[in-house]
Amino acid sequence: MALSKATAKKMKTPPPADGPKHVAIIMDGNGRWATQRGKPRLFGHQAGAKRVRQTVSACPDLGVKYLTIFAFSTENWKRTQTEVSGLMALFRRYIQREASYLQRLGARVRFIGDRAKLDKKLQTLMQYLEDLTSDNDHVHLTIALNYGSRDEVTRATQRLAVEVAEGRLRPDQVDSETLATFLDTYVLPDPDLVIRTSGEARISNFLLWQSAYAEYEFIDTQWPDFTPDVFEAVVRRYGKRERRFGAVPS
Ligand code: IPE
Ligand code: IPE
Ligand code: MG
Repeated sequence: MALSKATAKKMKTPPPADGPKHVAIIMDGNGRWATQRGKPRLFGHQAGAKRVRQTVSACPDLGVKYLTIFAFSTENWKRTQTEVSGLMALFRRYIQREASYLQRLGARVRFIGDRAKLDKKLQTLMQYLEDLTSDNDHVHLTIALNYGSRDEVTRATQRLAVEVAEGRLRPDQVDSETLATFLDTYVLPDPDLVIRTSGEARISNFLLWQSAYAEYEFIDTQWPDFTPDVFEAVVRRYGKRERRFGAVPS
């Protein structure tokens, strides 16, 4: 019996067996997306925030267990005060609006970055969402907020230096695994695939240490146009790549 179009659409294609387990996304292009439509940049950020829900909920079907998204960098403070405070208000609203959805989805939410520099209300909401979802395991969503890799490695090194200075760690015990335990991402596996939207081919200080062996995809789509179909296409392309980690393929 032929399936109706609707039924066929509902039936899920199995996730790619060799797909990425951890996808990290540099969500770029909100500002240009808005400008192209004659709207203020914040309009683009609002549209971008809406895309996050679909992207997170698409992960389990794609076999993606960990999703890490770059929301605000340590360099983004250089933007106008209007844009920065608009973004901070958007993050607060995002948490308030999405908390129950993320909880129902079974998403475990974590934040990485230097939260001490964020306003107290936002810090409280971030802690609330982390606590609310701390028992979940369906998909792990990590939001990089006031995050920069150099800042993260610097903060990690400061904490590590204290351990050495106070005699709890010997200098010769400091190897790359030990150092990694001081990073904000210490509980996460390294990303397998890093996607950057908007056509820019740069990393902009995102997960430099963790992505040493990640595969990269730079796509022209602006973040507010990043549909689950675009996501799926990128994830399926990843399966065709050969990762070597420095070895010669057998
Ligand atoms: C990414 O979009 C979101 C943030 C950096 C907060 P942009 O705001 O960088 O958008 P473009 O790159 O100016 O188009
Ligand atoms: C990177 O995008 C940061 C986020 C997506 C949050 P930017 O738009 O800030 O990066 P640059 O300035 O183009 O390198
Ligand atoms: Mg940008």
